Amino acid sequence: MLCLSFLLTGFLSLVTASTYTNPIRTQGADPHMVYFQGYYYLLNSQIDGHIQMVRSTTLGGMVNGDTKNVWQDSTPSRCCAYWAPEQHQINGTWYIYYTASPQSADPFTSAHSPYVLQGGATPWDTYTYLGQLSDSWSIDGSIIHFPIYGHYFIYSCLLDPTQPANPTTNYQNICIAPLTSVSTIGTSSIISSPTFDWEKHGASINEGPHALYNNLSQVYITFSASGCGTQYYALGLLTWTGGDPTEEASWTKSPEPVLSSANGNYGTGHNGVFLSPDASEVWNVFHAEDQYPTGACNSSRYTMAERIYFAADGTPTFEQAMKLGTVEQGPAGEDGGSPVEDPEPPQN
Ligand SMILES: *[C@@H]1O[C@H](CO)[C@@H](O)[C@H](O)[C@H]1NC(C)=O
Ligand SMILES: *[C@@H]1O[C@H](CO)[C@@H](O)[C@H](O)[C@H]1NC(C)=O
Ligand SMILES: *[C@@H]1O[C@H](CO)[C@@H](O)[C@H](O)[C@H]1NC(C)=O
Repeated sequence: MLCLSFLLTGFLSLVTASTYTNPIRTQGADPHMVYFQGYYYLLNSQIDGHIQMVRSTTLGGMVNGDTKNVWQDSTPSRCCAYWAPEQHQINGTWYIYYTASPQSADPFTSAHSPYVLQGGATPWDTYTYLGQLSDSWSIDGSIIHFPIYGHYFIYSCLLDPTQPANPTTNYQNICIAPLTSVSTIGTSSIISSPTFDWEKHGASINEGPHALYNNLSQVYITFSASGCGTQYYALGLLTWTGGDPTEEASWTKSPEPVLSSANGNYGTGHNGVFLSPDASEVWNVFHAEDQYPTGACNSSRYTMAERIYFAADGTPTFEQAMKLGTVEQGPAGEDGGSPVEDPEPPQN
């Protein structure tokens, strides 16, 4: 009897560790996640005055994960509306890139600027303020690395950064700039603007860029298109063709979205990409909501995780959002696979 219950418990905990259900977190807009030395670390946009990090050893454990407020700031120019924070490891140190606004900022038209915090040897360490990367309207900053070219900053920028944002005339694009240090950037250029109909629902918007790498040294950018308050908010894909990453001609845009509303999940977008604990699988973390069939850009959004697969030529395919509650296989290596030291791609 003792022996049987021991066996059953052992079996059940094995199953629990390797499966999960979506959503992995509620109130989980604009997710970004990494796996590092035994833990997944998740960040989301926060409107209530701090950046909160959640960690767990399994995806299934995220719903009850440890939480920690990793940042708050009373400086009036960057106190508020912490949007789209992301953890990135550069040269062995973890940083958080995030967007912040001045006090009482209007959500669309007023100032939003990109900032960076410096942490330590793990994402859970203490962060201190490091710097502001731009003083023009810029949101959703992320770090990308190219063979030979090195590190760049990608973000959502306005067509004319000297003029106020306007959803039809001065709309959001994807910009790229060389990362000249962890807290400074060089000249920015636009590499994607909303051109297809699926990028213009509600408003013409390209935002939330994130790097995606395969094992053939090919580099992609996922980004979100259309208004986040519509059911058409979806992920698009840019493919790097190998030339100077700051030239728009070095990128091709897939003509259709790669992830869109499915199975009762609406407005599937604003993603991050993470590796499985054994680094053999690439995963997509994104938000959606299920309360409003025509879309909602508020606290009804939750965080989902699904696989990304690659064809033999390196082309990515995205597993679509599954019905909430579907029991899914967790990332490879949660059950005792050897943890990876460094989730970032090779540095050259
Ligand atoms: C990483 O460190 C190397 C060597 O110190 C330096 O040349 C490089 O600029 C650093 N990378 C970044 C992105 O700061
Ligand atoms: C969220 O957005 C939907 C759609 O615009 C709206 O009906 C709902 O009241 C909003 N909920 C909250 C809590 O703001
Ligand atoms: C690269 O990925 C493809 C597609 O997942 C896989 O078939 C192939 O074995 C991988 N190659 C290496 C060297 O890991």
